[in-house]
Amino acid sequence: MLGSQRPRFQEDRPNGAHDPRERGDTALTKKLHVKTYGCQMNVYDSARMADVLAPLGYSVTHSADEADLVILNTCHIREKAGEKVYSELGRLRPLKTQRQAEGGDLLLAVAGCVAQAEGAEVVRRAPHVDIVVGPQAYHQLPELIARATRAAAGPGAGPGRGIVATEFPAEPKFDFLPQATHAQDVSVFLAIQEGCDKFCTFCVVPYTRGAEYSRPATDILTEARRLVALGAREITLLGQNVNAWHGDGPGGGSWGLGRLVRALADGVPGLARIRYTTSHPRDMDDELIAAHAEVPQLMPFLHLPVQSGSDRILARMNRRHTAAQYDAIVARLRAARPDVALSSDFIVGYPGESDRDFAETLDLIRRTGFAQAFSFKYSPRPGTPASAEDPQVEEGVKQDRLAAVQDLLRRQQDAFNRETIGRRVPVLFEKPGRHPGQLVGRTPWLQSVHAEGPTRLVGSEIEVEIVDHRPNSLAGRIVTRDAEEARAIGAAA
Ligand code: 5AD
Ligand code: SF4
Repeated sequence: MLGSQRPRFQEDRPNGAHDPRERGDTALTKKLHVKTYGCQMNVYDSARMADVLAPLGYSVTHSADEADLVILNTCHIREKAGEKVYSELGRLRPLKTQRQAEGGDLLLAVAGCVAQAEGAEVVRRAPHVDIVVGPQAYHQLPELIARATRAAAGPGAGPGRGIVATEFPAEPKFDFLPQATHAQDVSVFLAIQEGCDKFCTFCVVPYTRGAEYSRPATDILTEARRLVALGAREITLLGQNVNAWHGDGPGGGSWGLGRLVRALADGVPGLARIRYTTSHPRDMDDELIAAHAEVPQLMPFLHLPVQSGSDRILARMNRRHTAAQYDAIVARLRAARPDVALSSDFIVGYPGESDRDFAETLDLIRRTGFAQAFSFKYSPRPGTPASAEDPQVEEGVKQDRLAAVQDLLRRQQDAFNRETIGRRVPVLFEKPGRHPGQLVGRTPWLQSVHAEGPTRLVGSEIEVEIVDHRPNSLAGRIVTRDAEEARAIGAAA
């Protein structure tokens, strides 16, 4: 259904009729649709964009059709991710044209890493876009929207205003973002670090997200307390290079991530689980590894991208670690926390990758054992050093290597999930499942679990016996040794 069925902007009204109550009503009925691509940082940013726009009267809708403002929060990491945005913009064009033909409007904003990397090029390729806003500038959205609403769209139906905001502001945007005030999900993200100074040769992140920035510890602790007060029980600390976080400590001096994790565990009552992602092997320091041994709230699961098992390729990628150093980190982690499960990222077909290099990647996977992992064909990104390197690997070879890596990783994931069958594990229930009476939660190792149980258990961490596994989730049965609790929740004791 199109938005013309309900009041949108003031200009929609015949003769500019403006009963003040109606005007208030109109402000409250503005609808925002955010479509998120890519990483968890984008998921976080999308939620913050909604927070920034809430005071302007925007409430979130899941349908672009009924939105007054659509934001595409984009990803530039691989070519495919970038191209998806233009297809979506193409799909939105007729909707905008129709709105404008009816005398209304639909504001279109492109945010995220494509916005940052391509800037005005987005408007050239998609002239119906109104706002292009980079990841460091989205706190300026209210002002950008005001400018867009004031500016007339170009001639004819469909064109946008083409406002581009992609500078890296001098002040960190975090200082300008509003604090959360609404009920939070059980599991939430908290950005503590942004940007990257590592410059892996294949990666656009240092260019799209800018230099490393760490938020001060006090700000993070305050935000964490607030999120927990609003209902969160699990916090995932986010950063492009999260374990490079080095924030100012409350009493001066610089803290590392291990210290921050301890401060969160000790200083935020009600916070049941802590995770962090994404980490770089170079920044896995002793303090952080010790936190895995000593902080019960820190979950035994780590996403630690290695990209390749070949030292030759790792050097060419400017990863600044070897395969043996990765092995050593895994060994130290497992010594600290024997049940730690690992996840990783792999790139196959990096320029110059030989069969032998690739075999070394398979070897690394075999000897490490991953609970889950992501793998990608190398995708040349404009402006990155690797895109100019020789020789680029043939598409067919990349395809075969990807299939081989994914097959091995899938078998490891299946084996890992199968091992949990028959075991009792603590599950933090996050939300009701799709079927009535069903709950969905996660194990400490980030496996998704479905179990029968009453909705009031959402937000509780409860023992569950794992009874089955499916490709992407486990099936469980709530168990408890406490007879009274068992009666209350209808579980087996
Ligand atoms: N091609 C393929 N994969 C890439 N990644 C980053 N850049 C590229 C690229 N140019 C992968 C890396 C990274 C993950 C987020 O995306 O594995 O860890
Ligand atoms: Fe990209 Fe490397 Fe930085 Fe990760 S560490 S964001 S892969 S440049």
